[in-house]
Amino acid sequence: MAAVAELSIRRVAGALGAEVDGVDLARPLAPETVARLRAAWLEHQVLFFREQPLTPAQFMALARAFGAPIEYPFVQGIDGFPEIIEVKKLEHETANFGGIWHSDTAYLERPPMASILLAREIPPQGGDTLFASMTAAYDALSPGMQHLLEGLVAVNSSAKADVTRTREDRIRSDGRADTKREYVAEHPVVRTHPETGRKALYVNVAHTVRFAGMTEAESAPLLGYLFAHQIRPEFTCRFVWRSGSIAFWDNRCTQHNPINDYHGYRRVMHRITLEGDRPR
Ligand code: SIN
Repeated sequence: MAAVAELSIRRVAGALGAEVDGVDLARPLAPETVARLRAAWLEHQVLFFREQPLTPAQFMALARAFGAPIEYPFVQGIDGFPEIIEVKKLEHETANFGGIWHSDTAYLERPPMASILLAREIPPQGGDTLFASMTAAYDALSPGMQHLLEGLVAVNSSAKADVTRTREDRIRSDGRADTKREYVAEHPVVRTHPETGRKALYVNVAHTVRFAGMTEAESAPLLGYLFAHQIRPEFTCRFVWRSGSIAFWDNRCTQHNPINDYHGYRRVMHRITLEGDRPR
């Protein structure tokens, strides 16, 4: 029977993020450890772990302890593991995968609950990832703005130009044959977290095109305000990767943005996303 881990959990910033020590994620986790990690994850929204050089099979076992791994629509998985994609930028490439503020695949009817990213190869400097809390962003809005947003629905697309550019290299190298040209889904602008009951802003600059029932031109001023508001520095934390580091984030209440400041170097990560429900 797996021993219960002696976890040490250290908050890294005011709005979100905690670094967890005292657990070896390569080993099967005791149910009590999974429950403590899940409670910490719900509280801190993104958890960081160090020195966890998991094999793909161990990485899948870790993901399955927290949810159901799903496939990514645009890029095929690594050999033998369709749910693990390689998030990478090579020495000669200039765009980094997902290099824009976003919540993963918000253009799906049921976007993933969570993503788990494991660092394999990290540049000598740069390539950090920023995270932002969408509950903190929502809480900081005035009651009048919160009330206005409650009634709005956003149209989210996979085909906005800026995010499309960030996946072109990977589609060229590892693209799937069965991908649709565009995925579109409507979701509430303010979603209620199904586990914590907290409200979170659920628009993002990578995917949100307009409000349902309005034109892009009509939507642009308010969306522009929300895109700038939701990434204010006080809602963010920054993770400096090392090989074997893991970030485990909640897509229902966070956004992230990997910084593209390491041209000429490789950065290779493995990512698993976990099935989510329809935002409400
Ligand atoms: C992603 O959007 O999943 C990539 C994040 C990263 O490379 O840090």
